[in-house]
Amino acid sequence: MRAILCREYGAIDKLAVADVAEPPLGAGQVLIDVHAAGINFGEMLMVLGQYQEKPPLPFTPGFEVAGIVRAVGNGVTTAKPGDRVMAALPWGGYAEAAVAAASAVFPMAPTMDFVTAAGFSIAYGTAYGAFAWRAQLKPGETVLVLGAAGGVGLAAVEVAAAMGAIVIAAAGGAEKCALTKAHGATHTVDYRREDLRERVRALTDGRGADVVFDPVGGDAFAQALRAVAWSGRMLVIGFAAGSVPQIPANHVLVKNIDIMGFQWGSYRTRRPELLTSAFARLIGWYADGRLRPVVSHQMKLAAAPEAYRLLRERKATGKIVLETRI
Ligand SMILES: NC(=O)c1ccc[n+]([C@@H]2O[C@H](COP(=O)([O-])OP(=O)(O)OC[C@H]3O[C@@H](n4cnc5c(N)ncnc54)[C@H](OP(=O)(O)O)[C@@H]3O)[C@@H](O)[C@H]2O)c1
Repeated sequence: MRAILCREYGAIDKLAVADVAEPPLGAGQVLIDVHAAGINFGEMLMVLGQYQEKPPLPFTPGFEVAGIVRAVGNGVTTAKPGDRVMAALPWGGYAEAAVAAASAVFPMAPTMDFVTAAGFSIAYGTAYGAFAWRAQLKPGETVLVLGAAGGVGLAAVEVAAAMGAIVIAAAGGAEKCALTKAHGATHTVDYRREDLRERVRALTDGRGADVVFDPVGGDAFAQALRAVAWSGRMLVIGFAAGSVPQIPANHVLVKNIDIMGFQWGSYRTRRPELLTSAFARLIGWYADGRLRPVVSHQMKLAAAPEAYRLLRERKATGKIVLETRI
């Protein structure tokens, strides 16, 4: 099969399409004929050798795919050949075929196309899990989303709005802010030119946000910590800005703040039963129009290095998706 191969950590420009053996199908797994693969920031970190997991070289990057089930391994009862599915995997998605654990394979909505489905599971799964399982978000609460026009950020805007929250979306630039508004944000902050803390305080009668969703880290985390309400919650999602923030424990104490880490991938192995009900709910919201995923760039398989460049330059909104068969 054709797949993107990473032969050397750190060498994004050397990522190239190669002919490789199909992955073997094991018990409890599903073999998928992949039609499209989502691009994720973490995949770029994996290729750079900066991710928490380091697959043995050479490897095929790719955390999420959409396609048609070709075969299932022993013991799998939740999927069958011919099913249209989306799936999450540790790596291996930028390929014409991939295997995923059956617990991380989810049915596509009947009206969903492969490109939309390929970018759905990680962004929306992360947003849902963070708000529902960790922050236990309640209707009427105010949520501040950082990097709100990005892959996981825009999903967080839509999911928080679907859960009945008032969403303040923080993003860099007027166009990105307008996009978040079209996807459910009540208010926006252009954090390239506005002071995040002052704006959030003005929008909340001085109280601050009840919940902060932060996939950006760096200085944005420090500013958001000052914009969180007394007894609020901060969800640590990622570090797209490149630096891991240090947390001033005195602020956490004085404001009674809960700082919560959330890693969606770990739920695939530790709490798979939660994923099934989460995806049923998310697909329901997609079907009734509450979730409207954005794919700003649809590219061919060989364009993976170009996709990473767009992420680094903050030019993508919503998701970038590779079509694996062109
Ligand atoms: N915890 C989890 O389970 C989980 C799941 C998925 C993703 N993540 C993490 O979440 C982060 C975002 O992932 P994503 O796939 O949503 O990425 P993305 O689509 O590239 O979005 C990241 C956003 O961060 C902002 N940003 C600020 N500084 C940046 C910089 N120096 N370079 C690039 N972007 C910058 C950009 O928005 P502005 O231009 O508006 O600032 C951009 O839209 C990553 O760290 C990823 O590993 C975590």
